Formats: sequence, structure tokens, C-alpha cells
Amino acid sequence: MQGFSKKPLASLLAAAIMAGALLAPGLAPAAEAPGKVISEKNGLPWPAVIAHRGASYDAPEETIPAYTLARDLGADYLEMDIQRTKDGVLIALHDDTLERTTNIAKVYPKRSKDPVSSFTLAELKELDAGTWFNKAYPSRARDSYVGLQILTLDEVIDIAEGGTNKPGLYIETKVPSQFPGIEGDLRRALAKRGWLNPRPAAAPGNVNVAHMPGRVVLQTFDKSSLMLLQKEMPKVPKVLLLWIGEGSIEPKSSVPFKDSGFKDKASYYAAQEIKSQEEFVAWIDWAKAHGAIGTGPSSQLTDGGDQSYMDLVKPWMNNLTHDKGMLVHPYTVDEAVDFKKISTDGADGFFTNRTPELLKFYGRPARDSIDTILKRSGY
Ligand code: G3P
Ligand code: CA
Repeated sequence: MQGFSKKPLASLLAAAIMAGALLAPGLAPAAEAPGKVISEKNGLPWPAVIAHRGASYDAPEETIPAYTLARDLGADYLEMDIQRTKDGVLIALHDDTLERTTNIAKVYPKRSKDPVSSFTLAELKELDAGTWFNKAYPSRARDSYVGLQILTLDEVIDIAEGGTNKPGLYIETKVPSQFPGIEGDLRRALAKRGWLNPRPAAAPGNVNVAHMPGRVVLQTFDKSSLMLLQKEMPKVPKVLLLWIGEGSIEPKSSVPFKDSGFKDKASYYAAQEIKSQEEFVAWIDWAKAHGAIGTGPSSQLTDGGDQSYMDLVKPWMNNLTHDKGMLVHPYTVDEAVDFKKISTDGADGFFTNRTPELLKFYGRPARDSIDTILKRSGY
């Protein structure tokens, strides 16, 4: 890539991370990694472990055990997707319908394809948000996951505050066009719980991100929502999520999946390319001009799968983003082979479903096992 600097130092640093030597005392190169400097300037931990929908490899996404496990394992951030109920309550849920992760077909059969926004909180609390996980992942199933409930933002905050580790909150406005004013609702909710002001420090030896200026990171794919988040919470760090396609970065060729001839989505996504380098630069410049301190790019994964998306973490892209003074938090990465490759290419942390694996990669393994934490928490 012409015109953008190569970063041999970043590669050296990534090698240090891979060797687990990053946290060893007296290692100078880490201090000079561009993403570390940028993260520190914005009050974020580096490198960051962002528990995607909680520890969602081991427990049903965005439920009490998923977030409790992520917290107690030592994730820096609890990641969540925020939507709003019909009666105005902010909840943590990824999909904008309830079919995949609840038993809606059984409880409200005539409404099973209706949007989340058409249900009251009381109605959503009737749903079982755990049994689907046991069916989808029998090897990780637990009887105690049956009957888990969808959580409110307040309940996720209770979990973040409730342990000796004090993780931060990494909050996405999900399908924000369906929820006019959700950015203001979010500001009020966070302010009410004291998360827009300095918070007490954790006891030494514990995760202390809630005490840092970057205790909350706001994320969105939606440019309009980024602008509204910036208006509502100008001092809170923001990340623009990157994708190729409608409403996001323009592709070189826009053949839909169904006409593409690819058998699986991962192969289709891997073939997607940005229209031009200038298009990428324009997105980074726009993000920075509208308050983002970093990007959340999609990643292509070595083993494919349903989380393998477009490769927006090429070294020139990460270098360019760093050169613009912005950090890079790719989604959603679970395997050591990808932690290693994408760290070498410049990542400053990851969204991951597998918090314990990423902690291990960064040389700060969890003190307790998954089973120990889940049992201790009643699961
Ligand atoms: O928020 C980062 C990543 O979570 C974006 O993908 O679809 O899992 O929300 P998604
Ligand atoms: Ca998300």
C-alpha cells in the first residue's frame, strides 16, 4: 500500500505479546506501540479484552451467567447490544427479533417474527433465553441455563459493579433507526447509574477499567447514531464499527450472496473488497471527524465459520487508522491463530466470545476456571 507507513515497531510489539512477554517488567517496546499510546490517551486499557455478548462461548449470550463469567474471568469490558422495549426500557439483546435466542415461538406463537421493540419488558421477561444455547451447543449445555431471562441495561450494570473485578461497558446501539432517541435514553441511563463520572477504584490485583476514563465505550455501525452519541456524550470514547455493504464501506462489486455462487457466507464475505483505498480513508476520516477514537473492523478468520467476515484488518488499514490517531478493536475473534495474526497486523484488542482464550494469549490467564466461576455463581 503506497503512502502509508509500515510499522516495524508494531510488529516487534506484537511478537512480544505473542511471547507473553508484554507484561514483563522492563520491556520498552510496548510503550511505543501506536495503539497503546492512543488507548492510554483516551483512558482505555491496552490491549483490550472485550467480552462479546459476555463470555458467550460458554454461556447463553447477554444473560447473567455470560456477563458474570466474563467479569470474574477478568475481561476488561462487558460488550452488549442495546435495544428498547415497547414501554421504553433499555435491554441487552443482539438480534432485532426473538426467534434465534428465545422460545418465542412457544410463548407468543403469533408474534414470533415481530420486532423486539413491539414487546414490553414484562412480555420479554416471560421468555426463556437459555434453552436455545443448550440445544445449539450440547457440549457446553447446563441445566441451569434453562429459563434464563433477557436482561435490562440496569441488570448488566449490576453485574459489572457486583464483583471484585470492575470491568467497563462496551455498548452498541443496535438497529438504532428502530429506536429514535435511544442515544439520549442511554445517556440518561448511564448518568443515573453514575457511569458518566469517575468511579471508585477496584482493589489492587483486580480489573479496574470502570475506574478509567474509558469505562464506557460507545460503538455503532450507524453513522447517524455515532453523530447522536457524540452530541449526547461528547466526552465518552466512541468506536465506529466497520463492514462492507449497504450503509457501510462501499464494495468493489456488489453481487448479493444469493447470486454470488459462494456456498457459504464466510467465503462470500472473504471475497468482498472495498471499492478503493480512498473509500477506506474517507471512512476513517469521517469517523474521526465525528468523534470516534477508534474503529471496530470485521475480520476474516482462519477457520471460517459464521463469525468470519470481510478482511478489514489488513496491516495497511490498521497502520492508516493508527496514523490518524485512532485505535483498532476487531470483531469477533476466538482462536489463538487469529489473535496472533491480527495482533501482528496491528489490533489493539479484540471482541471475543472466548475471554479465557484471549486472556491466555495476552499472558494474563484467568485465576479461576470457567466451571469454578459458573458453579460459584449458581450455574
Ligand atoms: O459490536 C462488535 C460486534 O459485536 C459487531 O457485531 O453483530 O456481534 O454486534 P455484532
Ligand atoms: Ca455488538
